[in-house]
Amino acid sequence: MLKRPRRLRSSAAIRELVAEVRLSPENLMLPLFLREGLVQPKPIEGMYSVLQHSPETFLQELDRALAVGIKSVMVFAVPEKRDGTGSEACNSEGVLSRAIRSARAHVGDKLVLVADLCLDEFTDHGHCGVLDKRGEVDNDETLKHYRKMAVVLADAGADLLGTSGMMDGQVQAIREALDAAGFINVGILAYAAKYASSFYGPFRNAVESKLQTDRKTYQQDWRNVVEALREIQLDLEQGADIVMVKPAMSYLDVVRAAAEISDVPVAAYQVSGEYAMIEAAASLGHLDRKHAILETLHSIRRAGATIICSYFAIEAATWLGEKK
Ligand code: PBG
Repeated sequence: MLKRPRRLRSSAAIRELVAEVRLSPENLMLPLFLREGLVQPKPIEGMYSVLQHSPETFLQELDRALAVGIKSVMVFAVPEKRDGTGSEACNSEGVLSRAIRSARAHVGDKLVLVADLCLDEFTDHGHCGVLDKRGEVDNDETLKHYRKMAVVLADAGADLLGTSGMMDGQVQAIREALDAAGFINVGILAYAAKYASSFYGPFRNAVESKLQTDRKTYQQDWRNVVEALREIQLDLEQGADIVMVKPAMSYLDVVRAAAEISDVPVAAYQVSGEYAMIEAAASLGHLDRKHAILETLHSIRRAGATIICSYFAIEAATWLGEKK
């Protein structure tokens, strides 16, 4: 007897019935950029419809996200002033703290607010940490800044801190600082396996990054997966509440591996370059934009991520909502 797998694909209804993976708006996390000093939102080179927001349009984006069923946003802020130590990052009246505070006042508990915890947007050299005398990123000195930043952002009202700096011991340091300050319910979304990827290109424009070199001494080498498991394991041991793999599409094997070992939710970040690739190919007519977006998001879900951070979040959530 001929085995006929096609039988279960013979109508849209049966395909829905047997689908192994489902994606809902609740799985999606929306990244947002707030630029200090803007009155109008501003386009970003290579980021198509993603904008740097003013305080007002930032809050409007939160409303749009809520309206389509999204439950979480990842907030990045771009400051007016930068210096060697990224001191604005630890300013309780700085642009990121103000963004979180205004978001909290605007949405209450309806959205999970994730604040990016890293120095790169705030340093004049663009690195994710402070530099030592030789100009290298000083891991342990950086942790001191991360501790301070964590308490400032928790105090502003963040639910989760997105530790994106790839410093050793950052999750433990931040957990200790939060607990010592009484923020026991503020969690850590750990960028556990973050690669030194070329797919962050457009993001660097979004945050007006000053980086001249690369981040290869702290972000991971894209040839490695065993090393990613070690990073994930360490973040789990240090108290990560969610572990994230980044980028997503070229790292689905890493997402899968993370899902297999993690006892906390696994997230993946479909980064700016992945977003831009799809927009660019679609604008040239090389692919069906909506189909391609949904296909990539489902593939990330299929690999094992239950939380997907994506610039397509609002649009995709809208489509997913319409299907029902
Ligand atoms: C750095 C950070 C980066 C991204 C998020 N946080 C860039 C980098 O590591 O160079 C990239 C996100 C994207 O490309 O969408 N804190």
